[in-house]
Amino acid sequence: MRTQVAIIGAGPAGLLLGQLLHRHGIDNIIIEKHTPEHVLSRIRAGVIEQVAVDLIDEAGVGARMRRDGLVHHGTQFCVDGVRHRFDFRELTGKSVMVYGQTEITKDLMDGRAAAGLPTDYAAYDVALHNIFGAHPTVTYRGDGRSHQVECDFIAGCDGFHGVSRKSVPSGAIKTYERIYPFGWLGLLTDRPPVSDELIYVRHELGFALCSMRSPTRSRYYLQVSLADDINDWPDERFWDELRLRLDGKANADLVDGPALEKSIAPLRSFVAEPMRFGRLLLAGDAAHIVPPTGAKGLNLAASDVRYLSQALVERYKENSDIGLDHYSARALARVWKAERFSWWMTTLLHTFPDGQFEQKMQSAELDYLFKSRSAAAAFAENYVGLPF
Ligand code: FAD
Ligand code: DHB
Repeated sequence: MRTQVAIIGAGPAGLLLGQLLHRHGIDNIIIEKHTPEHVLSRIRAGVIEQVAVDLIDEAGVGARMRRDGLVHHGTQFCVDGVRHRFDFRELTGKSVMVYGQTEITKDLMDGRAAAGLPTDYAAYDVALHNIFGAHPTVTYRGDGRSHQVECDFIAGCDGFHGVSRKSVPSGAIKTYERIYPFGWLGLLTDRPPVSDELIYVRHELGFALCSMRSPTRSRYYLQVSLADDINDWPDERFWDELRLRLDGKANADLVDGPALEKSIAPLRSFVAEPMRFGRLLLAGDAAHIVPPTGAKGLNLAASDVRYLSQALVERYKENSDIGLDHYSARALARVWKAERFSWWMTTLLHTFPDGQFEQKMQSAELDYLFKSRSAAAAFAENYVGLPF
């Protein structure tokens, strides 16, 4: 088979790129390791920046998000039992959308199917060839046969554990990494959220986050030890621990219920540089990971896709390579700012082992954040999403 762009991975990055390219008349195929059901079963991000909302609209799949998504004009911190609110509209004139990654993925999959675009799910042994030559190819197996796709460009949108980044010669890539000494235990339940805004909780027992997916479905997270196993956390223990970390009002308002999903995720900061290798272009988690505290992972995937789709449109419609030549530098400038913000917010709100000095720094920084309008505006500006 021959196409213009072969996209590896049907997560938000790959699906969004495929849709945007299609709308500009650029042929693409998506090759995905898992089944669509498996892709949709992964419960991940929930907060979408305005710029990512606009991009989903531009891809032509924003209608359900506009109807069912919850626009949030602020967020709250609860520090040692006391709440503080940041008003995004007053501080930045912007807001964010609460709408699950699973729903975005579903909308993109439905849009792709409606447009009749090719997607090969359950592909295995995916391999990239000749990325530095003029005619790269992708080979894989699926449906009991071998496949070969000839293309002009390969978009590596296959997440942190994907094959694309690993196909690059080790001397051509530099990586930066920080691993945090704790994980997040997430629980999804069909119960109304404890508050109509997200609550980020800093407590001596550890960080907690109260989030939501809809007026009837809530998502909670607890900072847990990396040594913990999901079987150590029956639902009752989760709710008991969450209550210990919340303030009195949240305790009174919390409605617990059985977990629809429960999982532990490690926290990591990671960046690979550059993001372009010949005709292979990395986007999203394939190139970088943020700890989830600032809700930036999905949003960064969308911003990479914005730069990359514009660069490919310039290549095909204007015969210009300028966008492709600048893709890596443009994307990384935004990536590093989101890395900084996610690292800062993680450091600010979690309990670190043996960190008495760090704890004092957290308290001083939080006090400054609550009392200084400039500090609050800097937080809000990053949270709602920096401009391109
Ligand atoms: P992915 O969503 O990882 O998609 C990559 C796709 O490529 C997958 O479908 C995968 O199956 C496929 N693939 C992998 N290998 C291959 C291969 N060899 N061949 C073909 N296909 C392949 N962000 C937040 O903002 N808030 C959160 O709460 C949050 N929670 C998270 C929890 C977990 C457990 C994880 C892993 C991430 C979380 N994130 C969160 C981050 C956010 O979900 C990601 O940043 C986002 O999914 C990135 O999208 P992506 O398309 O780049 O990668
Ligand atoms: C969610 C996850 C986050 O990391 C975050 O900062 C806000 C919300 C969520 O899954 O709802």
